[in-house]
Amino acid sequence: MITNMKGKDFISIMDYSKEELDTIFEVAFDLKRRVAIGEDHSHILRGKSLGMLFASPSTRTRISFETGITQLGGHGQYYTPEQLQLKNKESWKDTAEMISRFLAGFSIRLYNLKAQMGTETYKYGDAREVLRAIAKDACIPVINMLDDKEHPCQIMADIMTMMEKFGKDDFKKKKIVMSWAYDDRAKSAGVPQTMIAAAGILGMNIVLAYPKEVGVYDVDPEYVEFAKQAAKVSGGSLKIEHDIWKAAKGADVIYAKSWARDPDKHAKAGPKYAKDWCISHDHFKVANSRANFMHCLPAKRNKEVTDALIDDPKISIVNDEAENRIHVQKAIMALTMR
Ligand code: CP
Repeated sequence: MITNMKGKDFISIMDYSKEELDTIFEVAFDLKRRVAIGEDHSHILRGKSLGMLFASPSTRTRISFETGITQLGGHGQYYTPEQLQLKNKESWKDTAEMISRFLAGFSIRLYNLKAQMGTETYKYGDAREVLRAIAKDACIPVINMLDDKEHPCQIMADIMTMMEKFGKDDFKKKKIVMSWAYDDRAKSAGVPQTMIAAAGILGMNIVLAYPKEVGVYDVDPEYVEFAKQAAKVSGGSLKIEHDIWKAAKGADVIYAKSWARDPDKHAKAGPKYAKDWCISHDHFKVANSRANFMHCLPAKRNKEVTDALIDDPKISIVNDEAENRIHVQKAIMALTMR
């Protein structure tokens, strides 16, 4: 267990070693146990404040962070860019330096600067640059609540859920299918990118499944390369599959999520995959008998997943994943903001 994570940013999963991720899980399980038995743990971050800047809507992330910091004895402050002087173009640098005088941690959701911040142009990776710049100018930990490259808090909660379902070591032996699913909206590939990177670090066996449409559904090659290299060290594996039925065969988890790198190409190509890539009980007929369905939520029902499957309590564990957001995020805050 690592004991010196105080002040460390949680921006990219790739900044973390296996030992550090294992420490987060260990603390998360301890904090979850305390909640389960009603044990007060509000001394851990008593009197400390977490800034929470959301440039786009959120249900799970906002509620879990705000409730989490409260349970740790601190206070969460929610704001949007419009509510801060960022609206009047105060620089990120001045904002970062100033917030360090008030807060013990700063969490941020930002993934499309053009839509969310009114900047003239936007390209993939710009939001990450902003998070890195804030982290450089702030002297408090910065936590990524979703940027254009990753959703690391989500994936930590997802892996914690797999540990609960399959065992803390056995989850690594399972076939985890991280699958593209159809939706008409083109969404960020942050979830699959973080999943394959985390799986590589931890030694999991991942199948990344998506339709073969070059430049549309393939994920950032930086993450594929990182995952492959990390898997060589950890003993995990990454396989890419373009046929969802082959991917689903023998799966222990099918995790569905829509994403697209190019909205215009997705608008043309996406509909032809709508039927096969709407995850349903048919996919679970070829999966392992006790396989689970996962989704980070919000799910587009009857596009990404059928109503019957996401509501099937024997298969769907989507609300367990959502609950674990609070436990892993409390662990991250407790370790870095203390
Ligand atoms: N999964 C997730 O981040 O949900 P929200 O967008 O509701 O926060």
